[in-house]
Amino acid sequence: MILISLSILALCLPALSQQHTDYNSFKPGGEWLDNNGVHIDCHGGNIIYVESLKTFYWYGEHRGEPQGASCYSSSDLYNWKKEGVVIEKGNIQILERPKVVYDASTGRYVMWFHYDGILDGRNYGIAEFGVAVSDKPTGPFVVQNHYRPNGHESRDIGMYIDPETKKAYIGYAADHVNRTIRMVELSGDYLSTTTNDVDIEAHCEGPGILKKNGTFYLLTSQCSGWTPNPGTYYTSSAIMGPYANQGSPFIGDAGNNSFNSQPCYIFKIPGYKDAYLYMGDRWNGSGRPESQYVFLPITITADGKMEIHWHNEWNLSFFTPEKRRSNR
Ligand code: GAL
Repeated sequence: MILISLSILALCLPALSQQHTDYNSFKPGGEWLDNNGVHIDCHGGNIIYVESLKTFYWYGEHRGEPQGASCYSSSDLYNWKKEGVVIEKGNIQILERPKVVYDASTGRYVMWFHYDGILDGRNYGIAEFGVAVSDKPTGPFVVQNHYRPNGHESRDIGMYIDPETKKAYIGYAADHVNRTIRMVELSGDYLSTTTNDVDIEAHCEGPGILKKNGTFYLLTSQCSGWTPNPGTYYTSSAIMGPYANQGSPFIGDAGNNSFNSQPCYIFKIPGYKDAYLYMGDRWNGSGRPESQYVFLPITITADGKMEIHWHNEWNLSFFTPEKRRSNR
């Protein structure tokens, strides 16, 4: 019996080892497998770093079954372990673009997302924010509320967490239909929206935000469903605007389609100087679970321009490590 079991195990070993992934670079648009050797299903979301756990968590739409939002964890941003579906759609018709913020003072993880469905026969007619909470990074997240922020229709959302003030803001494709982007400040506990909610006169979807040298950079796509389009970035000296249109940051973008991707978030990678990670989705014309990811470094040039260049393969050595703070 023991011999038979050992031979079966030996036969399985090559298959098991094939599943093991060990990446040390990003390959934008390429195949990207999780720790089980399965395609990462985590779209339109964001990444957070939890210092106390020394772990990155990546949240996004889980477009396979069960549908909802998934969470993956990593210590290096290349290799991701599937933590599972942290919130299932249940009777929510559309749950898109989840964004999680961690409140270190309460130990709470707060997820905001695009809550939608059919209203008066119109798809994406509900147009609301949803908010869900978990006391663990890996869920389960429990829905607390869903509503239109300050009465405005809301579809695609992006999030910015100010590293100095710890305040969080949501940029959202607002009103009929995604005519503009509005920016709303969240309450100090991240659980509700405030009335500080402004039409920032930018257009129109998938907003990602970063701040460098006192300037806010807002990156957006246009509105063409699952088909990619040329991206635009805007700059402002204040998070609430007004924002000035600066054109496309995608340099050498032959297809004029943001390197065949749509932005979902800009993650400031800790431990490296000005390390801004462009997170984009390659939807391939439909929001399939197999959709790929386009992760690229964002550069802010000496004269303050945002640039995103294509790399077939790159890694974090692209960035300069931050000097450790001296204790003296
Ligand atoms: C896109 C949007 C996606 C999804 C899609 C549905 O414009 O960015 O998040 O809502 O439309 O067609």
